[in-house]
Parts: sequence; structure tokens; C-alpha cells
Amino acid sequence: MVVGNEPRLLPEGFRKLPPEARRARLLELLGEGALGDFEATGRDASLVELAGLMVENSLGYAPLPLGIANGFLIDGRRLDIPMATEEPSVIAAAAYGARIIAKGGGFVTRATDPVMASQVFLEGATAGSAGRIRAAEARIRAIAEPLLGSLPARGGGWRGLRLVELPETGLLKVEISIDVRDAMGANILNTVAEGVCPLLEELSGGRRLMCILSNAALERRGAASFALPFQALATVTGSLEKAAETARRIVLATALANEDPTRGVTHNKGIMNGVSALALATFNDTRSIEAAAHAWASRSGAYRSLSSFRIEGECLVGELELPLSFGSVGGAAAFHPASRLVLELLGNPGATGLARIAAALGLAQNFAALLALVTGGIQRGHMRYHAPRIAYMAGARGPEIALVAAAMTEERQFHLDRAREILERVRREGKAR
Ligand code: MEV
Repeated sequence: MVVGNEPRLLPEGFRKLPPEARRARLLELLGEGALGDFEATGRDASLVELAGLMVENSLGYAPLPLGIANGFLIDGRRLDIPMATEEPSVIAAAAYGARIIAKGGGFVTRATDPVMASQVFLEGATAGSAGRIRAAEARIRAIAEPLLGSLPARGGGWRGLRLVELPETGLLKVEISIDVRDAMGANILNTVAEGVCPLLEELSGGRRLMCILSNAALERRGAASFALPFQALATVTGSLEKAAETARRIVLATALANEDPTRGVTHNKGIMNGVSALALATFNDTRSIEAAAHAWASRSGAYRSLSSFRIEGECLVGELELPLSFGSVGGAAAFHPASRLVLELLGNPGATGLARIAAALGLAQNFAALLALVTGGIQRGHMRYHAPRIAYMAGARGPEIALVAAAMTEERQFHLDRAREILERVRREGKAR
């Protein structure tokens, strides 16, 4: 049984109302007492309208914090990376990691071509289907090509056909590789799959089970690496000896993530703190990127770390490679003003540029997390960023927030009741005025 209060149900016909009228009904339902929370989901009429164009039955928008992790040095260029996240300390950790890595020369990145797969799964394909489909590649391509729009003119388009017989289900998988250039590609890939399907059915004598892109993005990867001299690491550890020991412990922590999947998941979650925050900030499909990353982490048959660390001479070397199906044209990435602003800040790097930045960001995030975990632990830094949030929840506003958070940090008491007591004291003493 579901616990909690009675849920609030929106009236019949709600879906047919225009977005602003829907919001009026929502406020009626919630009551004036909820006005503050209600307004937080729709202060800007043009964004309410845009939300109505983006999703069905929209209520408004969910305003996530957008911040910037500065101090990255990527392929010799300085870069500040916008990130959207609800989690305190993620942006600070990325910037901290990036600044240390910059001291050693920064990140080197690369990306493969943005090649994705369009898939048709056929049931009941008759004997010899694979051969007949292979022999008809030119005909299949002739159907697909007009569906690719301007992709071929922009250097993308058809990259090949692959067939796989799947023994467990008996299905035949027909996979078409397409270079989608700066798009995430879902629409074009699905259109191609559905477009070529009738011919595939005819050639195989089978029937489609489904036509859909694959989000695995196995061929569309971004990678980043860095080599951090112990001397640069020593600027935070205090001595060369401690730097070498910290590097050794970071390597061990990665071996642990490889050995124990329950730790591996948390390790990789730390990487995705960065990758997903960039995906959200650019209005990319976070679920597709996350699903592909975790599948990639399991490609050996066991769930393992996405990153690797090793010691080479007097350097800690970190590497990260993963599928990164970021798009910068088509979809919300291109038309939402917030995403456009983020892309502008990044210098409009295009899809492969975004994949390279995401890899560097994920690696910075991972390095910062491991550095904290194998030295002083993450809670001290984390709670410093969490304290203002607890102060806010206790009712502190404006200058009160910093005062309450500072007192909590000093006392190392990070719970709501204590925050309320401190807030009362602050107010009694008139400190925030
Ligand atoms: C917290 O969001 C991320 C970490 O748990 C990652 C890790 O443990 O490696 C700190």
C-alpha cells in the first residue's frame, strides 16, 4: 500500500487546457498556501509556453540549479564548464579536480565519429535471410539515404549494415550504422529503421518486432586522460611523499571499483555526476547517456570502473573512455534558451566537442572524489556545501543562511533541529541585520 497523504488529482480535461490555464487550475487545486512553491515552477511565462511545446500535459518547469565549474585546461585551452545538478559539492569538486589537473598540463581528449545504430528486429526470418539482406545493401541504402536529410552533405550519413542472429529469441537483428554528426540522432535513426523495415520484411519473409535506435552508442565514444606529476599533486597533499602515497591509494581505489561492483557503481556514479550535469545543462538525453555508460562498464561481462588510474614514473595517470551521445543540434539542446546559453559559454563545440568536454569533466569529478575519499574523506567538504541547504530548510533566508551554516559547520552538527535552534539564536541576537 502506498503511504503518504491523499494525492492531488488534476481534473478531467486538464490536458486540453492551454499551459497558463492549466497552471491556474493547479493553483486552485493546491490552494493559496502553496503559492511560493507553485511560483517556483513557472515564474517566466515564455518558459511556461516553451515547456508546453516540449512535453505533453505540462505544468510548468522544474528549475534546477545551473552552475559553472571553472579552471579546466582541455587540450591546451582554458574552459569553464556549466553544469546543472541538484547535488551540493558536485560543481566544487569538479572545479577542484580540474584545477589540480591543470597544474600538470590539463586534459588530453579525443572522440570517435558520432556513429550510432538504427536497429530492426525481425521475427520469423526464413533461412538465407541474412545473405539476401546483405546482397540487397544498395537497395536498402537507397531507401535510407533520402531520409538522412542534409547529413551526407555535412559529412555524415550511411556507414554500413550488420546482421546478427540472436540465438535466444531467434530474432534477426539488422543494424544500420549512421554518422549523425552534431545531432543526438534518435529521430533520424528511428525514421531510417522504420523506413527500411518493409524491404527487410520482404527480403526475410519475416515480420518486424520493432524498429528503434540503439542507445548503447558503442561506436560514439569520448575519452579524456591526464598525467599529473606528483609535484603538482603535492600542492594539495603537502609533500612529495604524501603525493606518491595518495596516488598509490587512488590506483588501489580504482582496482577496488573493478573488483567489487557494489563499489564500482558508486565510483561510476561519481563520474556521471559530471557527465549528467553537462547533459542536463545542455538539455541532452541524460537517460540515454547514463544507460550507455553503465552498459559500457559491463562490457567485459562484469560491472567495472569506467575510469582507470596508474602510476607512470613520478606521475599519476588517469583515463576515462565511454559512450557519449551528446547532440548540439536538433532537439531541445538547440532551441531551449538555457541550453543555447550554455553552448555559447562553451564556444559551441558541436557534438564531438561536447563528448570530449564531458569525458574531461567526468574524469575531473572522479579524480576529485577519489582524492577526497582516500585522504580526509568526503563528508567534511560535502557537509560544508550541504549546511546552507539545511539552514534554508530550517527557515533561514538571506544573510541568515551563511550565519546558520557557519555555526553548524563549526559545531559539526548538520541536522535540521540544530539548524532551527541556531536560527532562533541568530534572530534573537539580531546577528543577520
Ligand atoms: C557522490 O555524489 C559521489 C561519490 O560517492 C563518488 C565516489 O564515491 O567515488 C563521492
